[in-house]
Amino acid sequence: MVARVIPVNPFDLVLFGATGDLAKRKIWPGLFRRYVAGQFDDSSRILGVSRSELDDDAFRDRLRDIIPTSTTAEKDQLDRFVALVSYIAIDAKGDRGWDALAKTVRPETERAFYLSVAPNFFGPIARRLRDRGIATETSRIVVEKPFGHDLESAKALNAELRDCFEEHQIYRIDHYLGKETVQNLMALRFANSLFEPLWNASHIEHVQITVAESLSVEGRGEYYDNSGAMRDMVQNHLMQLLCLTAMEPPSKFQPNAVRDEKVKVIEALEPVQQSDIARGQYRSGTGHDSYLDHAGNPDSRTESFIAMKVNVANWRWAKTPFYLRTGKCLRARTSEIAVYFRNPPHMIFPGIDTPSGNVLVIRLQPDEGMTLHTTIKDPGPGGMRLTEASLDMTFADSLADSAQPQDAYERLIMDVIRGDQTLFMRGDEVEAAWAWADPIIQGWQERNHKPQAYDSGGSGPDDALLLMHRDGRRWRPIGA
Ligand code: BG6
Repeated sequence: MVARVIPVNPFDLVLFGATGDLAKRKIWPGLFRRYVAGQFDDSSRILGVSRSELDDDAFRDRLRDIIPTSTTAEKDQLDRFVALVSYIAIDAKGDRGWDALAKTVRPETERAFYLSVAPNFFGPIARRLRDRGIATETSRIVVEKPFGHDLESAKALNAELRDCFEEHQIYRIDHYLGKETVQNLMALRFANSLFEPLWNASHIEHVQITVAESLSVEGRGEYYDNSGAMRDMVQNHLMQLLCLTAMEPPSKFQPNAVRDEKVKVIEALEPVQQSDIARGQYRSGTGHDSYLDHAGNPDSRTESFIAMKVNVANWRWAKTPFYLRTGKCLRARTSEIAVYFRNPPHMIFPGIDTPSGNVLVIRLQPDEGMTLHTTIKDPGPGGMRLTEASLDMTFADSLADSAQPQDAYERLIMDVIRGDQTLFMRGDEVEAAWAWADPIIQGWQERNHKPQAYDSGGSGPDDALLLMHRDGRRWRPIGA
């Protein structure tokens, strides 16, 4: 298999928040890698925008410092890349810099405006882009999470954006949708005939979706303490994984066809019972402080871990629960979807120990890939004994000759330039996810619920284990 890079049309990309953390870590290095890969050339322009007073040269020097290169050839390419970049200092809520921006964007060129800024800037920036004619009818606007704090704030953000842009111009990023394996989940389900006939409650006993992180919230305590795992991870990233696992086949791999099916899943979610939720907060551990220290709030009741049982009330999934679990300071960084198939209806091997059965594990990170746990005869003499064997596929090995793995942001930014919204959240989708999440959050706010403490480096609070034991099931070990 040979990697194919399909060049995009020349564009002007305006990056608001150009000196911010996300821009440094993901967006600038990602753009450079796409340039090196040949996805765009010197006919495109990138304009960094932020509050700081810097001139083009000073900003280009910063880019040289933050964009990693490994060879002399790449250093040369970096020089050519930064020559495409210029910089404007702008007051997002005032007048400074906007005339200069209007003069810099080129007529007749595709324009994309990437708002890597706090949500309270979305409206003011969108209005200035519209009022000054900087955004045209074909321009695109990209916004980052958090997209609201609850349903009401998400609706307000949607209204501000739609006041200036049409829905087909708005790209709401959930970077989980840019991950290779997340898209592979759709390929697995809808480009193979093997799985889809089994992909329902008659054959699937339950599904576990885990996004475990080993890092703490150190350094982002203030933001995190106002969000918690529910708002930071479940309402968006885990919800997307749930949707792609549970949705009906769209008629086409096209933006609205895919997003219609995802919205139907969210709308089919039953309200979650408080007794089906486990919330946790990490204690101090070897070499690091507790969540309460990191949050700078000794009384915080924000969760750094959450596990819950979710039911999708439709024909396909009735009686097949989905268990979601995510948290900080856990044993390992691992994200996966584990699909547990039902046991055979009748066992013809009486008296023989049967291993745990068929589980399809789709790994998002690390080691993107898939493993299908199967039961086979224990090889060799000694009569009929059963054992477990795995069919294992690590994408990095099996696709070694293919494309270099792309970071989620690289792919998503190029999709914006191509005008493909398939991997972006639609406004109604975000609102539906908040409409589901809000009562859950309100439930524990009303009870002033205190999360259960858990040891860092472990698997989360005991309540999460009980949640599963109660249903006669077990979590897959984190990092298994
Ligand atoms: C972000 C969250 O959206 O996703 C972070 O705000 C989290 O808290 C991160 O750490 C996880 O992303 P990834 O790609 O590292 O799994």
